[in-house]
Amino acid sequence: MSTASFALLPSTTPAADAVRDNILAAPGFGQYFTDHMAHVRWTLDAGWHGHEVRPYGPLTLDPAAAVLHYAQEIFEGIKAYRHADGSVWTFRPEKNAERFRRSARRLALPELSDEDFIGSIKALLAQDHAWVPTPKNAADECSLYLRPFMIASETFLGVRPAREVDYYVIASPAAAYFKGGIEPVSIWLSSHYKRAAPGGTGFAKCGGNYAASLAAQKEASDHGCGQVAFLDAVENKWLEELGGMNLFFVYKDGRIATPRLTDTILEGVTRDSVLTLAKDEGLTPEERPISIDEWREGAASGEITEVFACGTAAVITPVGELVTEEGPIRLAAQGDNEVAKRLRTKLLDLQYGRSEDKHGWLTRL
Ligand code: COI
Repeated sequence: MSTASFALLPSTTPAADAVRDNILAAPGFGQYFTDHMAHVRWTLDAGWHGHEVRPYGPLTLDPAAAVLHYAQEIFEGIKAYRHADGSVWTFRPEKNAERFRRSARRLALPELSDEDFIGSIKALLAQDHAWVPTPKNAADECSLYLRPFMIASETFLGVRPAREVDYYVIASPAAAYFKGGIEPVSIWLSSHYKRAAPGGTGFAKCGGNYAASLAAQKEASDHGCGQVAFLDAVENKWLEELGGMNLFFVYKDGRIATPRLTDTILEGVTRDSVLTLAKDEGLTPEERPISIDEWREGAASGEITEVFACGTAAVITPVGELVTEEGPIRLAAQGDNEVAKRLRTKLLDLQYGRSEDKHGWLTRL
């Protein structure tokens, strides 16, 4: 496996300290980018080569580049956290690296080693360390959101796997994904659109899945909702996931359930961590099929006491209601989302180094 070092092409126009500090004070989500980006090139003949960290800036692509026509592209989302002593850490990067390879296989792209995936993040952070925000308090979820991605850059209009590919990592200082922070979000149930079908690309983190979710996401916004929930494409009955995050249900008997993984659901790193942390908390995690009827009936009977969304960007965000064409589904036993808040605090404390990393999930950058 490659352990190549990344050559540095220093930025000639790094942001001034005052400009950066201003951005870090209120970064929003996905609006600002750091001074550099990491890059590695792949060609069928030479494999991965040309590891570099170069100034952040526009890419030059031929208009016939395959990615622009056939969407041969994958990406990841992972965060860097600043601890109280100033050190910077990331969370379970080997899980993202593994998922990136799964996505690559499905999209007929070349696989990147753990060494290159994690090495590219370390090389970028070595330059752009100052862009990792410092949390103001234990509720502050500010971080540096890292976006590794891979595109088919070969100039060729025939439909076949590209023989030239580029991998990049860009970084963006981030606050909470939802404007209301941890205020419960409303979710729209898409009755018409489907996100993924068996045998398709649902389990891969590829741009096409997100493009396919956008018409439904627009419907959600038109109904005043922050996210859209998708049902399965075969029976139109089983809950799959939201446009960009996984779903959990908390039951009054201490069970906590999430849809079991199929090839139409993205395996979230936060989802997997919540299953472990829930067990640590004495809850009973379950991965199994969950129908829309179970949500409707459990909400009405008080069996379901909380619903929450989770993901790298969303962390853990309570769901207040599911808006459907037949009317909203609200929890009869809606409390103050105690379990979601407890798990969220556990996760953030771990990621920001405020509690012991007993699962060995942190990697220093
Ligand atoms: C992430 O959570 O990292 C994602 O890619 C989802 C997207 C809604 C930002």
